[in-house]
Amino acid sequence: MKSLIVSMMLALVNQSAVAESVVERGRYLIKISGCNDCHTKDYAPLGGKVAEAQWLLGDQVGFAGPWGVSYAGNLRLRAATMDWPQWQARIQAGGLPPMPWPSVQAMTSQDQQAIYAYLRELGPAGEEMPANRIPGQPIETPYILFVPQMPDATTTKAN
Ligand code: HEC
Repeated sequence: MKSLIVSMMLALVNQSAVAESVVERGRYLIKISGCNDCHTKDYAPLGGKVAEAQWLLGDQVGFAGPWGVSYAGNLRLRAATMDWPQWQARIQAGGLPPMPWPSVQAMTSQDQQAIYAYLRELGPAGEEMPANRIPGQPIETPYILFVPQMPDATTTKAN
């Protein structure tokens, strides 16, 4: 009886250790795969010096290009409203640039799940980001223009 209780307790400890290491792996994957560069305001310009509590709340600076305007949304709000199958389906569906859809789709389902677990652990916070715009719609936020330019002789001159 005693050993049964001990082994049940060990199983519980093991389970929470596994859950913890999945979340930790998700945190690691987020850090190495650049998700914060777009989904966390000012992360790239500040060289990553943004408190973890502010991570992945989205950015209202749009990415404008031939696809219209896309916004790197609030992943914490999104993960909070989706169960794991819905999250996985969202990733498989893909979407607009410059979101690195092929990279996230190429992750193993364990890695995708670790990112999802980490987002759920961070919990919902912040606001919804603006909805994407189709080409030709007015843009009401700051945006980065993603349009290839032809080489221009004038840019090599000192101003
Ligand atoms: C270069 C900028 C950029 C990077 C880096 C980036 N994203 Fe995104 N992400 C976006 C944009 C823009 C969208 C909106 C695309 C769309 O609507 O189709 C988006 C959308 C998403 C969505 C869909 C959200 C929704 O509301 O439907 C998920 C999930 C997501 N990104 C996860 C990630 C993860 C995980 C990483 C890191 C591996 C990452 N993103 C890295 C720009 C980026």
